[in-house]
Amino acid sequence: MKKFLPALAMALFVATTSCAAQGDMILPPPNMNDKLSVMDALNQRQSSRNFVDKNLSPAQLSKILWAANGINRADGKRTVPAAIGIYSVEVYAVTKEGIYLYDVDNNKLKLIAEGDHRATTTTGQSFVSKAAVNLVYVETPAAWESARRTPPRDSQIAFANITVGAMIQSVALAAETEGLGNCVRGSINRDEFKKVANLSAEKNILLAQSVGYVK
Ligand SMILES: Cc1cc2nc3c(=O)[nH]c(=O)nc-3n(C[C@H](O)[C@H](O)[C@H](O)COP(=O)(O)O)c2cc1C
Repeated sequence: MKKFLPALAMALFVATTSCAAQGDMILPPPNMNDKLSVMDALNQRQSSRNFVDKNLSPAQLSKILWAANGINRADGKRTVPAAIGIYSVEVYAVTKEGIYLYDVDNNKLKLIAEGDHRATTTTGQSFVSKAAVNLVYVETPAAWESARRTPPRDSQIAFANITVGAMIQSVALAAETEGLGNCVRGSINRDEFKKVANLSAEKNILLAQSVGYVK
């Protein structure tokens, strides 16, 4: 990891960031210098629903997304485990400015749809539209096309859910290091989000997680 980070920083030294939805957003490398220990972050972990509508900095977004699904080794493996090394979960970031797909390889947010679509990630919990970012965890069965062996469909779904379990806890801990709140959410307007995020039919929305400043 120590060797890998400078390479990542070098690759991204031209990073320019903006919160306006002007296209893709190149993220800065994640900050690794936290004062909060893992044990302190675990001690503080809880669900928050009292969000205030204030954007995260690009550095905070980068940290949250890297914790969820970032590459932490030169061989391309990630902060979270995945069965058979097949990463079948994509992370969408839904902010006031737009819907973005986290491009893991380039630590970049790829713009999918402009505008404030945060409400489409809930079935009616009003705090969701105030949370700076709502992560949506989406299973992509096509990821298995590159696998040496293909497990049955029910195992693929179970494996993806297990990876999402790791992702939500990573994000919760990273959020604590930034003094941010988070809330995992199973109640999602799946039909609506599929539409606005232009998800193909076979993709499977597993879970959402609101992250942001709290009162
Ligand atoms: C799979 C899953 C789905 C959840 N769905 C929702 C939800 O839709 N809305 C919500 O407000 N909280 C949701 N939660 C958060 C739980 O309500 C919360 O974790 C639980 O009450 C324990 O509280 P704590 O997280 O503060 O320890 C969900 C949690 C999990 C793990």
